[in-house]
Amino acid sequence: MAEETQAAAGIDVPASWWRDGVLYQIYPRSFADSDGDGIGDLAGIRERLDHLEWLGITGIWLNPTMPSPNDDWGYDVADYCAVHADLGTMDDLDALIAAARERGIRVLLDLVPNHTSDRHPWFVDAVSGRDAEHRDFYVWAPPGPDGGPPNNWLSNFGGSAWTWHEATGEYYLAQFLPTQPDLNWWNDAVRDRFDDILRFWFARGVAGFRIDVCHAIVKDRDLRDDPPVTPADHRKLQHRSVKPVYSANRPEVHDVLRRWRSVADGHGGPGAEPGDTPILVGETYVLELDELMPFYGTGRDELHLAFNFLFVHADLDADTMRAIVEGVEAGLPPDAWPVYTGSNHDAGRLATRWAQDDEARARAALLIVLTLRGTPFLYYGDEIALPNVPLDPQSALDPVARRTGRPSDNRDVCRTPMPWTDVPGGGFTAAGATPWLPFGDLGAHNVAAQKEDPASTLHLVRDLIALRRRTRDLTAGAYATLEAPAGAWVYRRGDGFAVAVNLADTAVTVNGLTGRVAIGTDRAREGDAVDDAVRLGPWEGVVVALG
Ligand code: GLC
Ligand code: MG
Repeated sequence: MAEETQAAAGIDVPASWWRDGVLYQIYPRSFADSDGDGIGDLAGIRERLDHLEWLGITGIWLNPTMPSPNDDWGYDVADYCAVHADLGTMDDLDALIAAARERGIRVLLDLVPNHTSDRHPWFVDAVSGRDAEHRDFYVWAPPGPDGGPPNNWLSNFGGSAWTWHEATGEYYLAQFLPTQPDLNWWNDAVRDRFDDILRFWFARGVAGFRIDVCHAIVKDRDLRDDPPVTPADHRKLQHRSVKPVYSANRPEVHDVLRRWRSVADGHGGPGAEPGDTPILVGETYVLELDELMPFYGTGRDELHLAFNFLFVHADLDADTMRAIVEGVEAGLPPDAWPVYTGSNHDAGRLATRWAQDDEARARAALLIVLTLRGTPFLYYGDEIALPNVPLDPQSALDPVARRTGRPSDNRDVCRTPMPWTDVPGGGFTAAGATPWLPFGDLGAHNVAAQKEDPASTLHLVRDLIALRRRTRDLTAGAYATLEAPAGAWVYRRGDGFAVAVNLADTAVTVNGLTGRVAIGTDRAREGDAVDDAVRLGPWEGVVVALG
């Protein structure tokens, strides 16, 4: 693209907040509580913008902020154009957007188009009778031949995806909880309503959306049965009996994405700058790269960023991760831009999943995420290598853990309050207040202590972000795999930088790099000369300025 050509020619081009910057996911109930009710809120986030600016963040994605009965913690929306009372008011959201903007931070909301709450007025109307105005906003079907559910589709939260509605004698589709009925995206009226919802928020200054269950909103029109899972399918599918072939990722989803992209591209209005076009970031939960790439369309007409769940669910292993990144580099449409993340509110925290609560491993992982070609998303707490907090599944607030009873399904463990300091209340809430989910070990991980310590993970993350943002090679520069000893991953970014990371328990020597250590997970090495060889201890990584 023009931008790259200019960069290659050494012309300074304005940075893009979402391609060159670093984005940060906030779980609003758990970030900062301004009113001492134990629940994080929008005013609390505004009070903590200093931290995000200091860290170098250019955009935040807020997990659901809309009114909801909270059966699935906001992912069951009862009103798409308002703010959840637990989190504050529309004025609080406007104030957050404006205050963030003053610091160069854009705000993305979470849009949940796959399903509503069963208490949304559309569904309340839909269940009132078969000829109700909003009946076709949802997916209804008569029983199958055996009198049971219409087909074999499964809920992502366990059991059949169909719920019987006695009063009107039909099943409705709900691919998550029965109180989260799926919308019918074959209905043009649904499409029109969502266009309006997008425009409503863009007009308020929202810089885009993370789109929940983006890959699955359109289902097979004929409701064909899903085929059985086979041993060749991804490990994450192996606990299911059938593979979501007809119940998700249908080709027609791309019509909807193109439609939303034109709504986003068309948003301008008086005074809008080119960088103000809102972006669409998809929760594209597919587990094959060739299924992921189409979500970018041509690279200009569908999503701006499509989350890469192969990477999220990969082991912290050099061969595995390198193969995924090489696949992205080879398969991405022209003009499209990768995105990498290691943690989120469903998959858990990278410090535990990838790093097994070992800080050296977490630092190596963060160095990778922050130096790949693609937008990094950090999840609140990643910057201090916050691990999952072990919690008793018996008292889980997460409906999935309650439904399946499997401790590993408990997403509460990665949604606990941000530990700002080690005083009572953790700097998150008032000293005497009970946070909605418990803290982990406040002494072991908190922002204030790490801020005092230049060797901390917090400083490493901040310095990596700063280096990335000021170095064109680390933002726009090409990715190229370099020779590496077993267990290590070595890559070049642009002409000027190389990254070498040892993802193993034994030391290695990486050959062929000459320059100077710009940043290392061992901060003492910074500035050291590298002369054709660099030795890396276990789980050690360096960014080398070549030359
Ligand atoms: C997405 C969300 C998850 C939610 C589900 C149903 O996967 O990330 O938290 O439970 O959708 O909305
Ligand atoms: Mg509060």
